[in-house]
Amino acid sequence: MKKGYFITFEGADGSGKTTQMKKVKSFLEEKGYDVVTTREPGALDTGEKIRNILLHSENPISDCCEMFLFLADRANHIEMFIKPNIKAGKVVLCDRYTDSTIAYQGYGRGQNIKLLKKLNKIATGNIIPDLTLLYDVSSETAMKRIGNEKDRMESESLEFHNKVRNGYLQLQKESPLIIKTINANNSIDEVFEETKKLINGLLQENQGV
Ligand code: TYD
Repeated sequence: MKKGYFITFEGADGSGKTTQMKKVKSFLEEKGYDVVTTREPGALDTGEKIRNILLHSENPISDCCEMFLFLADRANHIEMFIKPNIKAGKVVLCDRYTDSTIAYQGYGRGQNIKLLKKLNKIATGNIIPDLTLLYDVSSETAMKRIGNEKDRMESESLEFHNKVRNGYLQLQKESPLIIKTINANNSIDEVFEETKKLINGLLQENQGV
């Protein structure tokens, strides 16, 4: 039976991770893998509705409500989409996952990180990625790339985005075997070279399994 893979893409808004994910999809398809891409928040119809509240709500949302909405989106996404696709032997590429909640709601908003880790476990049934690519970029560069059309999260201060970035780097230190950092200040092609090396490393590790 084909082995499924679960690879997540993390980093600041404006880190370029979504562009890299698309390139990885083509790269893996050329190698003959069956690849699906998805994202959080906002996969499937339910996720789309939750995403709309989270990113485009005109009224303020409490931090606690925000936290539960991201987790609710994830709980449905893992059960209805991610797990069945991994089981079917596909490579699942996911734009953001559990680390986003720790970085944004934990380090950014100041929610209890231990609690968030527990809630992530409950929401996901403890499904952990085979590889997490962390696109690290200075907050100044990221904000320049975003430009003026910002959603609710992107409109947060530079200080908030710096906290998120440091949170991600802390998470990488805690899970160095799964989370790999890539310098996303570089050009798209340079970043993709790094990305490919890490993806190839994962595939080689699992050859013959
Ligand atoms: P999105 O437009 O997908 O941003 P990007 O394209 O930069 O990934 O918006 C997702 C936003 O939601 C982003 O600002 C990060 C935030 N987010 C959280 O705060 N917590 C989470 O758990 C997730 C999944 C995303």
